[in-house]
Amino acid sequence: MGPRRNRYLRLPDAKQAALIAGARDSEPVKGLTHGYYKYPARFSPQFVRAAIETFTRRRDLVLDPHVGGGTSLVEAVALGRDSIGVDISELAAFVAKVKTTVYSEREIDELDAWSKCVGASIDIHGPTIRFADYAERGYYKHLDHPSRWRLRKAIEQGVWSAIKLGTPRLESFGRCAVLRTAQWALDGRSKQADVDEFRAYLEDTAKAMVEGARAFRAAVRSNGPHRREVIVLNRSAAGLEDDPTFAEGRAPRLVVTSPPYPGVHVLYHRWQVDGRKETAAPFMIANKLDGAGSSYYTMGDRKYPGLKTYFDSIRSTMASVAALSDSRTVVVQMVAFSEPRWQLPRYLDTMEDAGLTECFLPVLKGQRDGRLWRSVPGRRWYSDQRGETPGSNEVVLLHRKAADAPAERTGRTVTSQPRPST
Ligand SMILES: C[S@@+](CC[C@H](N)C(=O)[O-])C[C@H]1O[C@@H](n2cnc3c(N)ncnc32)[C@H](O)[C@@H]1O
Repeated sequence: MGPRRNRYLRLPDAKQAALIAGARDSEPVKGLTHGYYKYPARFSPQFVRAAIETFTRRRDLVLDPHVGGGTSLVEAVALGRDSIGVDISELAAFVAKVKTTVYSEREIDELDAWSKCVGASIDIHGPTIRFADYAERGYYKHLDHPSRWRLRKAIEQGVWSAIKLGTPRLESFGRCAVLRTAQWALDGRSKQADVDEFRAYLEDTAKAMVEGARAFRAAVRSNGPHRREVIVLNRSAAGLEDDPTFAEGRAPRLVVTSPPYPGVHVLYHRWQVDGRKETAAPFMIANKLDGAGSSYYTMGDRKYPGLKTYFDSIRSTMASVAALSDSRTVVVQMVAFSEPRWQLPRYLDTMEDAGLTECFLPVLKGQRDGRLWRSVPGRRWYSDQRGETPGSNEVVLLHRKAADAPAERTGRTVTSQPRPST
């Protein structure tokens, strides 16, 4: 066992205060490209921004190994950091990619023109396109219902309009506008939207997204002419250290992430129509394929005693985080627990097993358990029936590579050097 490192982070009080304020911020998610899709259990942009500003400098590398809808990447690139996001979900990777695409002025003008006329392509009396391959694979389930076929047709016409934009980058933007609109129209609603409302919402969404694309472009360019690199990997974070992306051996300065939560049920990959009927329509709209059922995205089923598959998966993904880190990397996570009393200690043991040691903010010394907690009013997720909290208390955990963890991966130099500009 190596010497035990000081468990308090050395940070100026002002930086600690900024991190705490960011974590507890409850402003609605807005700005840049954050509104492109409502990814379940997404970060508050203020929180990730505070973490990035606290622990990194320009050109440093920020890694999010469970990137979801890409909140962390948007903030990292806008602040002039390089960033890598990883997610096992094709839908998450799609959303994160679109949100971090820096569209050229010309592309934005084309999208602006599209946003003003996309509404006209939604016509209940007009022709439509049926995506037969998706229909055969069951992605139309619950969409063909007599009460929903009009919305299904509106979605198909919207997607067709996106395809006609003609380039993969523009098409993805268009598909994302339809994705957000269809999510609004279908997901978890007691009263379904009608086609006129769908058309109006699609136009408004497309216009707001164009503004977001402009703001994101301006933010990226404010960091100078050299664009920061952003990479989105669609894969599991387990074994990430062997991915060719990390072959140079550059360690992230900050890992900021929120993995699936233990015992807290979040439906990442489906929308719910008509009560609890699940539709895989988001994948069809994004032109992606679904994984292998809900436990694929949540690190195992809650029915396993002691959440075994969950903690095994966290150990694997976090061991990879540790392998990619160096002694200066800080790992910041936002996690919620359905039964914190036993799950939090178990989670922390799992982090230790993975080679990561917990550390604390000095200003929180003596307060509660010394950790940064936040409560989230009105969160739309469902904790385990047996849960002792409503799943709305989240904690920010801070870790560093354990002093006795292997220093480097396979003999390479682990540094965080500025990448040559592209
Ligand atoms: C709480 S969400 C992240 C939300 C994200 N912070 C945001 O702002 O949108 C957790 C994500 O972990 C992903 N995930 C689950 N298992 C994974 C694994 N083994 N490797 C990488 N990502 C995984 C899920 O697909 C889901 O998108």
